[in-house]
Amino acid sequence: MTSFPPGFLWGAATAAHQVEGNNVNSDLWVLEHCNPTLFEEPSLDACDHYHRFADDIRLLASLGLNTYRFSIEWARIEPEQGRFSVSALDHYRRVLAACHENGVTPMVTFYHFSSPRWFAGMGGWEKRNAGDLFVRYCERSTRHLGDLITSASTFNEPNLPMLLRWISNVDIPFTTVLRMGRQASRAIGAGQFGCFFLGDGDKLQNHMIAAHHRAMEALKSGPGDYPVGVNITLQDEQAVGQNSKRDKKCAEVYEPWLAAASRSDFLGIQTYTRCRVGKKGDLGPEPGVELTQMGYEYWPDALEVSLRYAAARVRVPIYITESGVATDDDSRRIDFIRQSLGGVTRCLADGIDVRGYIHWSLLDNFEWIYGYRPKFGLIAVNRETQERTVKPSAHYLGEIARQNRIPDLAVIG
Ligand code: BGC
Repeated sequence: MTSFPPGFLWGAATAAHQVEGNNVNSDLWVLEHCNPTLFEEPSLDACDHYHRFADDIRLLASLGLNTYRFSIEWARIEPEQGRFSVSALDHYRRVLAACHENGVTPMVTFYHFSSPRWFAGMGGWEKRNAGDLFVRYCERSTRHLGDLITSASTFNEPNLPMLLRWISNVDIPFTTVLRMGRQASRAIGAGQFGCFFLGDGDKLQNHMIAAHHRAMEALKSGPGDYPVGVNITLQDEQAVGQNSKRDKKCAEVYEPWLAAASRSDFLGIQTYTRCRVGKKGDLGPEPGVELTQMGYEYWPDALEVSLRYAAARVRVPIYITESGVATDDDSRRIDFIRQSLGGVTRCLADGIDVRGYIHWSLLDNFEWIYGYRPKFGLIAVNRETQERTVKPSAHYLGEIARQNRIPDLAVIG
């Protein structure tokens, strides 16, 4: 079967900090400007999406895609603790309205890694009252935006800090982290700096799971009546050899959030690669396997495995809220999309309730500590002029979306 069910969502995703530009009240902006810093370069103007969103959404729709997943930025909406910016909320009303005007379903993420700097200065997610603050932001935001929202996720990859404990291809120099953290807390005049990326996974996880459930209630308090879920990072975990720690890793990284998703309206999964897990932990890429610009194995089959893994554990609808590949060779992206979607069709044929495929990413954007080097976009962005150039992979995915099936397409350029 190469067709998808009627109403299947086809889209592309971004995150506020990665595309909007000048997110100056965020914790990450502070970290990007420390010396030393883990960041290869600061985000600065990013893709200037804050001003160009209308054109970007129009472009997405013109490709044939029907869904735009984006995040609203807590640091803009609540730049000072307890003080909300109506102008920032109005901005996101305009973004939502632009989606509707173009016949595009907006999927909103309320938290995609970045926090207000004051939140970091209070210790971030490791603090017991973090959830209260997040829930208040959700409640205030939905009051302003809820009538235009079609679908929402509380968190993007809240299980990432747990995953980072395991994966071996991210080499984070500990002394830089310490010095950067000390400098960041001095820069904002606080005694601490609690950033999501670098937090204690266990503490963070407990607080965020509780916050997810409470935020869900807040988001459902109206206006609007939209499903609320959570998007987790979920890789294809493969056991290698005897006494592999694969099951221990899955129990720590995935199971708690899959349980939380079971009590939500949907689960979003975000899959990029496979991980080989041996008796001591992650083994890293297998020699000889093609690598992406992120240093991950090029492994499009991972999506099917993740879907099956998730479907065996949750009974709620599943959306692929991110799948993609960092490459300068767009023909590899086309191949990656084709192969990943082949896996999705096999899952659908087996009755798995997959409702949408949202590609990461709409634009070449700010890839966190790696800066602008990795290219995940369906659309290239000129870093000097901000000019957008649609890549063949965007046309390829758009055509699949229009036909709602995988046609036997030659590459459309
Ligand atoms: C994140 C994105 C990121 C992408 C590619 C996901 O972990 O949600 O923000 O850019 O992966 O690394």
